[in-house]
Parts: sequence; C-alpha cells; structure tokens
Amino acid sequence: MSITKELLLFFPSSLLALCVYFYLAGLNRKRPNLPPGCGGWPLIGETFAYLKAHPATTSGRFMEHHIKRYGKIYRSNLFGEPTIVSADVGLNRFILQNEGRLFECSYPKSIGGILGKWSMLVLVGEMHQRMRMISLNFLSSARLRAVLLPEVERQTIMAIASWKDGAIFSAQEEAKKFTFNLMAKNIMSMEPGEAETEMLRREYITFMKGVVSAPLNFPGTPYWKALKSRSCILQMIEKKMEERKGRIGAEEADDLLGWALKQSSLSKEQVMDLLLSLLFAGHETSSMALALAIFFLQACPKALQQLREEHQNIARQKRERGDDEPLIWEDYKQMSFSQCVINETLRLGNVVRFVHRKAIQDVHYAGYDIPRGWKVLPVFAAVHLDRELYAEPHQFNPWRWQGCSPGVTSNFMGYGGGPRLCAGSELAKLEIAVFLHHLVLNFEWALAEPDSAFAYPYLDFPKGLPIKVQAIA
Ligand code: HEM
Ligand SMILES: *[C@@H]1O[C@H](CO)[C@@H](O)[C@H](O)[C@H]1NC(C)=O
Repeated sequence: MSITKELLLFFPSSLLALCVYFYLAGLNRKRPNLPPGCGGWPLIGETFAYLKAHPATTSGRFMEHHIKRYGKIYRSNLFGEPTIVSADVGLNRFILQNEGRLFECSYPKSIGGILGKWSMLVLVGEMHQRMRMISLNFLSSARLRAVLLPEVERQTIMAIASWKDGAIFSAQEEAKKFTFNLMAKNIMSMEPGEAETEMLRREYITFMKGVVSAPLNFPGTPYWKALKSRSCILQMIEKKMEERKGRIGAEEADDLLGWALKQSSLSKEQVMDLLLSLLFAGHETSSMALALAIFFLQACPKALQQLREEHQNIARQKRERGDDEPLIWEDYKQMSFSQCVINETLRLGNVVRFVHRKAIQDVHYAGYDIPRGWKVLPVFAAVHLDRELYAEPHQFNPWRWQGCSPGVTSNFMGYGGGPRLCAGSELAKLEIAVFLHHLVLNFEWALAEPDSAFAYPYLDFPKGLPIKVQAIA
C-alpha cells in the first residue's frame, strides 16, 4: 500500500528531474557561447549608463569598467535590444569588412524617422550602393582638386576675415558656420550670408537637436520640433528642385542637387533624403573635428609651432608664384604634418565614437557566438584610446603618425571602414588643412575660458570653445 504510494510519488518526480537534467544538458550543448556581460534593467538595459556624458578624450567610465570586468568584447542590453559591444580592434575590423554578409548597418528607428528612409546612413543593400556611388562621384579626387579646394579656401578666407584682433568668440560656432556654408554651397549652390542660407541653418540647428535627443514624438519635444524642421528643410530643397526644373536649357549647376537630378531613376523623395543626409554627414563631423584641432593645438605649443612652420613654407612658395595666388593641389600635398595633426585629432577626440550594426547571420568570432539579430556596436573610441595599441593614449601627439609604425594607422578607424567607409573623408581633411593654413598664418589664439569637449555621446564643447584671437602682424 505504502509502497505503491511511494512509487507513485517517486516516479513522476524522478521523471521530472530526469527531464530537467536532459533539458539543461541539451541547452548547454546548444546554448551559444555569448560574450560575458549582463543585461541591466528590463527594456532600458544599460542604455543610460552607456550614454552617460564623459570627456571626449576618454572612453567613459561605463566602457572602462566593462572592459576591466568582462574584456574587450562584452554583452549588454542597449537601445532596447540585446547587444554585443566591441572595443576589440580585430572584431571591429571584422564587422566593418563583413558589411552586407554577416553584419548590416542598423541605426535606431528614430534616426531613420528623422534622416528619412532613403538616407544613406540607414539604407542597406543595392539602394545604399547606388546612393554611395553618386556621393563618391560628387566627392571624387578630380572634383576635390578643381572645384572643392578653391571653394574651401574662398570660404575659409571669408570666415577668418570677420575676426577682429583681440576678439573673443565661440570657435565651435565659427567652425559650424564654416562647414555648414560649405555644404550648403556644395549641395545646393547656396551662398553664405544670404537670407535663405541663414534660414536653412536655423532650421538645421533645430533638426540636429532632434537627431541627438530621445525619440519622443509629442508636441513640444525636441524630436517633434526636429520632425517639423525636417519637413521645413525638405520644402526648401524641393523649392530648389522646382527652380532647377523651371530653367530648361539653362546650364546645370555643378552641385550635388544638379548631379542627383541627372540620375533620372531617383525619385524626388530619394533626392531630398540624399541631400539632407549629406548635409548632416558632412557638416556636424568636420566642424567638430576642426574645433577639436583648434582646442588640441592651443594646448600643445610645440605642435602649433611645427604646424605654423609647415604653412609658412607653403605660403612662401605661394608668394613666389605671385600675390594673392590661391592654394594649389601641390601646396595641399605638402601639408604632411597637418595630416598628422588631423589624424591625431580624430584619434584622441573621436568625432564618431561608435557605429550601429546588427548581425544578419549567426557569427562566430574568437570563440564567442554572436546570434543573428543581435545589435553589434563597434566602438572606435575605445580602440583609439587603448594603451595596448597607442602609447600614452591620452596625450595629443601628432608625431606618432610620422615614421612607419603600421599599427598606428591600421588600428585607426576614425572614418569607419569597409563598404561604408566615410565618403567624405578626403573633403574633411581638405577642409581642416586649408582652414588651419589660414588660421596659423594669421592668428594666435588662447582659450578665453576653460572648456573641453564632452561626449553626450555626440560631441560638444559645453561653452562653445570660447577663444580670444590675436592677429599676427
Ligand atoms: C572629420 C570629419 C568626418 C568624420 C570623422 C566622418 C566619419 C564617418 C564615419 C565613421 C562614417 C561611417 C558610418 C557608419 O559606418 O555607419 C561616415 C560615413 C559617411 N560620411 Fe563621413 N565623416 C566626416 C566627414 C564627412 C564629410 C565632410 C562628408 C561629406 C561631404 C561625409 C559623408 C559621409 C557619408 C555620405 C557617409 C556614409 C557612407 C556610406 O554609408 O556609404 N563625411 N563618416
Ligand atoms: C591618417 O590615417 C589614415 C588612415 O585613416 C592613413 O591612411 C594615413 O596615412 C594617415 N596619415 C598620416 C599622415 O599618418
């Protein structure tokens, strides 16, 4: 009697235990070997800690803490999705090189909402390839020499001409105006200072605040305002398009709009999103890089001295050709120390700190599994500030780019890499080098108030980098 009862009790429970045992064993066999880490809170995960503001020349406490605890590849929960974060140079390169095969660009939905579904930054596959080809043709080295160099110099001189000896102003603002005007000119032939250009710039500033804010779409929020600015900017672009179409037979303008209109296969919507995404990609990044260079140079007199000597030599050769001669490509090619300054500025300042990707296949890397569908964030900033790769990583040291230590360049990914490598990197370098040329030849500068760049994670000088300039006699 009691035996049967015991049997009855024993049987199901032991069966259950056996089942659990096999189930766990099965899981163990199949469970992917995820990188270590923890998910944090439900839904928000560790997003807020990850995004916490930190000095631009550090990779932030969250990153440092997680690397120390888990290693350079770890797992987290960010932007509402399970995510692998990589501060590992090999994995970052692997991710960028395998774009479209194992990984794919995957920005949060809010970014697509604001930049547009045809924006180059969010497109993937064939459509991305087509838009990219248009942009690359537009930024080709032939155009860089013949059109963009003279234009960049003209606008640099215009920007600097307004600076009075002894004036105090925000260098970040000046840099933003300069790169914005340059992009407005290149994209739609808009001239700096004109009412229309200024209006576009004001709308753009509102737009930008939305790109970097929480995607809460209620009346009054920055995101909502940005969506309104987006449609305002698109209306302006559309107006330009209509004007062009009106002028049948008139010479087609040599700007991106003219180029895009020639691609008859693009719809109006596609052209508008392309223009807006280039304005966005080309303006914010290079202005921040320029502001950072101005900041790092004032703190490093030795580098400024060497930079000035380089540009004095070029100016001397220029004068031998005649007064008021413009810079030519051969001059630009001689700005070799300037290129070291630019690389070092991006390595230490990290204008684009990480990019958004997702795994489109199950990926196996260095013993870890990255399940299909997971977000993957290659963090360039963490690599650029890794002391195992760059000696004294927190020092501004442009000389580290001289000579031939291959690691210095191959570990550098300030412009991304692979099939989505920055389409405008050559223009960006040209802008910064030409601006620095006229800056170091004409002015000394110092901080008017202490300020330094922070990553929010978009970069910003909280006080706008106030500088006091002194004209060089
Ligand atoms: C110092 C300045 C700049 C930096 C640091 C920078 C950085 C980057 C990075 C990291 C990416 C890759 C994004 C990703 O993989 O998701 C990128 C893409 C891009 N950048 Fe830049 N950029 C700069 C200036 C410019 C300029 C001046 C332009 C245009 C005139 C430009 C146009 C683009 C475009 C069109 C893409 C998308 C490329 C593609 O998806 O195929 N960038 N940039
Ligand atoms: C700057 O970095 C790039 C890699 O993005 C490299 O190709 C180039 O040689 C570097 N320039 C200098 C002067 O080291």
